[in-house]
This record gives sequence, C-alpha cells and structure tokens, in this order.
Amino acid sequence: MNAGKNDRKRSVNAWNEIFRQQGRVFAEPHQDMPRIVQLLKERGARAILDLGSGTGRHVVYLARSGFSVFGLDNSPEAMRLTRQWLADEGLEADLQRQSMAEKLPYEDAFFDAVVSVQVIHHADKATIEKVVREISRVLKRGGLLFVTVPKLMNQGGRFEQVEPGTFIPLDGLERGLPHHYFTPDELRELFVEFDIIDLHLDAFDHYCLSAFKQ
Ligand SMILES: C[S@@+](CC[C@H](N)C(=O)[O-])C[C@H]1O[C@@H](n2cnc3c(N)ncnc32)[C@H](O)[C@@H]1O
Repeated sequence: MNAGKNDRKRSVNAWNEIFRQQGRVFAEPHQDMPRIVQLLKERGARAILDLGSGTGRHVVYLARSGFSVFGLDNSPEAMRLTRQWLADEGLEADLQRQSMAEKLPYEDAFFDAVVSVQVIHHADKATIEKVVREISRVLKRGGLLFVTVPKLMNQGGRFEQVEPGTFIPLDGLERGLPHHYFTPDELRELFVEFDIIDLHLDAFDHYCLSAFKQ
C-alpha cells in the first residue's frame, strides 16, 4: 500500500539522518543484555537475530559473546557503521538491509532468539502485528524473545495522531516516523503466542518484555 511504502521511506531517512549526524548514538548495550546473554548461554542458544540492529551495539556485543549473529535494519548508514564496528573488532555477523515490514529473509524456526530494542514501535499497529507474526515464524519453539518498546510519548514538539496510540512527529529529527506507545495489556495481547517470563520498565521508560515462543 502507498501509505506503508511512504512510512518505510520516511523511516529510512529519519534514522539515516540521525546516524549520519550523530554516529553510533547508542554505544553501550541495553542494561538487560548481560542477563539475556546469561539466559541464552544456559539454554545453549546459537543463532540470534537483532531486529532493527541500528549501528550495531547488540550485534557486536552478541558476536563478542560467541553467538552466530544476524542483524536486520533498513538504514544504510546503520549498516555501514555496524560493518565498520565489526571489522574494527575482528568480528563477523550476517547483516541484511531491509524493512521489518517485509517478509523477513530467514527460514521458519531458524533462530534460537530474537532481540529487538526500541524498534518495533516505529510502525502503525497493523504493521507491528505483522512484524510480530514474522518474529514468531523465524523463532524456534521455545526460543527467546527480548523486545523493548516505549511506554509514553517522551519527545517534545508537534504530533499527528493517526490511530489510537500511534503518533507521527511533525518536526524534529524523527519527523514523519511513526511511534506507537504501548500499554502492558496491549503487549500481552500482541505476544499471545509467547509465554511472557518478565515485563518491566527500564531506565528510559521502555517496557522490556522477555518471553519464550510456545
Ligand atoms: C532507536 S533505534 C534502535 C537501534 C538498535 N536496536 C539499538 O538498540 O541500538 C531504531 C532503529 O530501528 C530501525 N528501524 C526503524 N524502522 C525500521 C523498519 N521499518 N525496518 C527496519 N528497521 C527499522 C532504525 O533504522 C533504527 O536503527
């Protein structure tokens, strides 16, 4: 649909510009990542997808931890910075540049885990539901999902509300990029095919959900 294509185009541009202007932006792994890595090691996980991998903080962290890492993001600048970071550290990962709104380029039940930090909220609700179906498809039964999404609107400026919970900033660096803000009940409904083992807020007021695929 045209609206979806336009959203994806704006998304690439917004993040390309942010990464182009500010470089890595996120240099340290999310605060929960050591706990996630511990859990993955205990479960003998190998292949991990970082969905919306940005400039590579989790791709690098997970590759350093010995996993076989796959990163997907639709920002060319994010891909470039991630490749550079991996090369600087002598690490390898499989990187794909495409939108999460498209069918993911992986086989069914390929991954032991999917992590996605501050990404899937960058879409309208119908697209987010499609993304979650794709996450479920590529994740093995019993595989771990770690996803974070924002709780509240935390940016200044003007917004257009396009549906309940989904806002598009009309100015600022994220102009034109959809932001969906979740409630805990909405998350439980969205991840109904998963056994949620933890749901808490991090230091940035993002919900952090850990769950196993049923
Ligand atoms: C807040 S950043 C988080 C990046 C990374 N997950 C991290 O924690 O450092 C959001 C990321 O989502 C990516 N993104 C936004 N919309 C996307 C889409 N439709 N498909 C793939 N990636 C997308 C952006 O390019 C950006 O890298």
